[in-house]
Amino acid sequence: MVESLSAASISRDLETCFVGQRVLYYPSLTSTMEVARREARQGAVAGTVIVADEQTVGKGRLKRTWLSPGGNIALSIILYPSLAYLPSLIMLASLAVVHSIGAATGLKAQIKWPNDVLINGRKVCGILIESDVQGNTVNYTIIGIGINVNLRLADFPEIQPIATSLSDELGRDVSRLSVIRCLLVEIERLYLALLAGGSIYEEWRDILVTLGKRVRATTGETVYEGVAESVARDGSLLLRGSDGRLTRIVAGDVTLRD
Ligand code: BTN
Repeated sequence: MVESLSAASISRDLETCFVGQRVLYYPSLTSTMEVARREARQGAVAGTVIVADEQTVGKGRLKRTWLSPGGNIALSIILYPSLAYLPSLIMLASLAVVHSIGAATGLKAQIKWPNDVLINGRKVCGILIESDVQGNTVNYTIIGIGINVNLRLADFPEIQPIATSLSDELGRDVSRLSVIRCLLVEIERLYLALLAGGSIYEEWRDILVTLGKRVRATTGETVYEGVAESVARDGSLLLRGSDGRLTRIVAGDVTLRD
């Protein structure tokens, strides 16, 4: 039996200064990104978290949809970073997910560039970051995180070959509350470390499953193939093609070929 969530159970005695101190919980909504956007435009306090049990129009990266039935984690966090920190937020969010899955369940997760979180080669979490930027000013950033927690992949054959869930990996139900609370603490810890001048690039780079592998990278309409050689500090991927040329991929998606 999967426990029910509430705003109070998420934020009660949470060991953070601001992330998750204000939580808006919805049993069902279209997308936590939509509510977060509306809240941010109205000046919601930094660290406000929108959580839904079920999303009816979950949004994925690259205009994809995100399957978001009840029993999983779907949340968005509102932050107001300065422009220089935006590339690091992609790294921060995926690292925080890896750390919190490890702390709450003992499972070892990895990151596929730029920020898919995998367990045993299958996707367990997707991250969508949206920022409203005018000139050099970031009006707001929303970090959207979807984790397959108690999803029975056998019920979703369309994604079964590429996706997994914490419960399928462990063979038992998993407490969403413990994963969410670990996640919020970890996001704040890494964010404050970043603001204090720390770097999370090295740890993110070292946990990437992508490096050294043959990949197909899609960016817009263009597809590149090659070996993922390294990642730059701004998060971009450096791909060595068979002709020896190095291509920098700033945004996109990769499929591992090996
Ligand atoms: C991806 O394509 O991998 C990113 C998926 C992001 C899904 C999360 S679930 C919470 C938040 N609300 C959404 O509609 N999308 C993000």
